[in-house]
Amino acid sequence: MEKASKALRSTSVSGERVAHCAAPSCSWARQKHGGVQMSHVANRKSNHSVRWIERHINDRYVMKAQQENYRSRAAYKLMQMDDRFCFLKRHQVVVDLGCYPGGWSQVALERTYCDGSSRGVVLGVDKVRMDPLLHHTFIQGDVSHKEILDRCFNVLGDRRADVVLSDMAPKLIGVKQDDHLASAETALFACDFVEQLGGWFIVKLFYGGQGDNLKVYLKTRFERVRSVKPRASRNESREMYFICEKFIGHRHDTPTDTPTDRAFLVSCVVFM
Ligand SMILES: C[S@@+](CC[C@H](N)C(=O)[O-])C[C@H]1O[C@@H](n2cnc3c(N)ncnc32)[C@H](O)[C@@H]1O
Repeated sequence: MEKASKALRSTSVSGERVAHCAAPSCSWARQKHGGVQMSHVANRKSNHSVRWIERHINDRYVMKAQQENYRSRAAYKLMQMDDRFCFLKRHQVVVDLGCYPGGWSQVALERTYCDGSSRGVVLGVDKVRMDPLLHHTFIQGDVSHKEILDRCFNVLGDRRADVVLSDMAPKLIGVKQDDHLASAETALFACDFVEQLGGWFIVKLFYGGQGDNLKVYLKTRFERVRSVKPRASRNESREMYFICEKFIGHRHDTPTDTPTDRAFLVSCVVFM
């Protein structure tokens, strides 16, 4: 696995990576520039970043997130998926992988009624340090490092997760195939967590050839797997989510020609 990951990473890091859109909302830009045109202030060298900033500060969900005090527009993606599939419930244990800046964790805290007096736990993990949220536990670290899973066990004690969320995204470089492979690798790191922690599993992937393989693999672990693209996900974004219901662990009755082992997926990811 380690060898495979290294090989995959070397494919992915083939050029300069651009920052992923996990940045908190640009209220400063709207206040200063009226929220219409940024071309006169942004880096003139990059039309792409000018367009990105213009689109971002005029985006309906960015504005809504600011008005409703969510840390990211991504919060609405989780709300829309939960409105449809109802996986967040009172008193649950929710593990939020790639939680920075905290929009999904805010929604999880609200929908599990986690207020310190209930049995609900919302535990977030991210490489980037997150500003604290009330009644939220945060672990800073990379989910590919084994000690992060051990630290999650320490927080949860003998409880396991009811829901594992992964909105993790690698830094995108704008090359579809590389971004897809990097996101498949990230999704596999999240799979390691859900294998240990159980529960519903909501995981992001950037569209590409490995989507079907990942789905086949997930179907060996969960009773039901659905693919969705919430309305709040931008049309031009290649992201989608798998909603996996009822963790069943390793399925022993799977036909021999069905890939039941994650190694299958990793080898496809590396050697395609
Ligand atoms: C799209 S953002 C998540 C937004 C979040 N769901 C929200 O609503 O605020 C993706 C996050 O995944 C994190 N991430 C990516 N790879 C990671 C890894 N291997 N370990 C931990 N965090 C990771 C990034 O640092 C980034 O903050």
